Amino acid sequence: MKPKSKAMGRVACLLSASIASLLRGAGSFDEHPYSLSASFKTPMDTLAGLTDWAQGINYVYAITTVVVAIVFLAVSIPLVYAIRRFRVSDEEWGTLVPPKQVHGNAILEFTWTIIPVILLLFIAVPTWQIIFRQPEKHQVPANAMRIEVIGHQWWWEFRYPELGITTANELHLPEKTPVYFEISSADVIHSFWVPQFGGKMDALPGKGAENHLFFTTPVLQHPEKKGGEYYQGQCAELCGLSHALMRFEAVLHEKAEFERWATVFHNPPVVQTDLEKKGEQVFMQCMSCHTIEKTPSADLEKQLLAMTPPAHKAGPNLTDFGSRRMIAAGTRHNTAENFHDWVHDPSSIKPGSKMVSLGLPQADIEAVAAYLRYSTAKTY
Ligand code: CUA
Repeated sequence: MKPKSKAMGRVACLLSASIASLLRGAGSFDEHPYSLSASFKTPMDTLAGLTDWAQGINYVYAITTVVVAIVFLAVSIPLVYAIRRFRVSDEEWGTLVPPKQVHGNAILEFTWTIIPVILLLFIAVPTWQIIFRQPEKHQVPANAMRIEVIGHQWWWEFRYPELGITTANELHLPEKTPVYFEISSADVIHSFWVPQFGGKMDALPGKGAENHLFFTTPVLQHPEKKGGEYYQGQCAELCGLSHALMRFEAVLHEKAEFERWATVFHNPPVVQTDLEKKGEQVFMQCMSCHTIEKTPSADLEKQLLAMTPPAHKAGPNLTDFGSRRMIAAGTRHNTAENFHDWVHDPSSIKPGSKMVSLGLPQADIEAVAAYLRYSTAKTY
């Protein structure tokens, strides 16, 4: 094949692959870990904004789109007209005289300076209005729920200081509630983003480098369904090898259901079968990095936090692990098989993962899976 047709073939191949992935739709992340979908109402659709913050941003998008559409028409219509009206035939070519020159025409120059200024003001004023809707820390309404968001390579930690809850990768939220996020990072720059809830906010490392985000959570779209509504979140700042696999889910609840989640969270694991009891023992090897409330791992965490300076465990809090829909930062369904693959070799699922493979024998992995997946399942 000639190099040219080879390149053409490659382009055609890429195009057909993209079209196929569009037609296939969103699918689950397990099935199509890297598939894209351009259809509306997908889990990552910013245009289907649900919060006041997301709708404010979309309002600015709409104004900008109208302004640029007017500019486009104002330029392209006279352009097409001029091309057709003043077309020169072959005979006329050579007999043409240059048109009258308008260099230095003050009125013209003033006009084409002032028009873009007016257009930019049209876009800038609503943009400022939306930006300044984000309150300063001291302006946050007293009834707002405070949530600390901490980015880690490559997972998300969520702390609810008022509720004494620390969890990971599932951001539980009550509906119709103002929420104030305090966003930071434990290592490199990440970016907190739930597309349907509005714009991204960088998670910066370092003392005092905290960013904030404030919005009112939306109403449930399907209140008849039990168990909360799931919205996809994604790290939106390149943060290393597994950046694309740094996902999470925001789970929206009815207010009463959220209260129940917050209460049940503090219940100790219910260890029943022999396998689960064995898993509880195996988990002792995991507790230097992970914590489950009301177990020795939580006592160890308290000791670490009491040190000066306080030490933090490296891994996510697994208190309600059994209730989580996904594992490995929202990238795999919480099934026994995926759990096995994850614990056996974390880097095979998330390249560069900081979680080490402990080289546990098969029987130990099965036991710890039973303990984590069943004993820590909280019903709410
Ligand atoms: Cu964290 Cu990208």
